Amino acid sequence: MKELEIKSTLQVYDSLEELPEDVRQLMQQSFDIRDKGYAPYSEFLVGAALLLENGKVVLGNNQENACYPSGLCAERTAIYYAGANYPNEPILKMALSAKSLKYRLTTPTPPCGACRQAIAEYELKQKKSIEIFFTGETGKVVKSYSLANLLPLIFDNSYL
Ligand code: THU
Repeated sequence: MKELEIKSTLQVYDSLEELPEDVRQLMQQSFDIRDKGYAPYSEFLVGAALLLENGKVVLGNNQENACYPSGLCAERTAIYYAGANYPNEPILKMALSAKSLKYRLTTPTPPCGACRQAIAEYELKQKKSIEIFFTGETGKVVKSYSLANLLPLIFDNSYL
């Protein structure tokens, strides 16, 4: 038996002011779209702003449904729109933000497992890392250099 160690390195910014200007703008777009999310059941709003290589920004937020599993997370709403409309345009950066209407969200909120799997598909497809920035409500932001860094042991098409 051997032990396998999996390591991820993340960067933490204490405030939005520390972010590079283009990311700060992307994060602001993520906040704006987050606040338009449709989340009457969880009262938890999520926004995603994706910067494409051609400079376009694709936005998405969470869309809930009375039949709960029929809803969709912000990240997948945005990335599927990007995949549908800009199939050959690499995604360079992703700014994710979350906010609860019930309490103050102090922890930067990472994408859920299902969204990580979805983002992984596009990162592998475009053969270029996607930088992921995520935040809650305090201005503290976590950055991952790539999705792979957030999802060890990715299940990908090499298994099919
Ligand atoms: N949600 C997202 O939009 N992205 C995530 O990565 C985590 C969860 C949404 C789904 C649901 O509408 C609400 O947040 C509570 O789970």
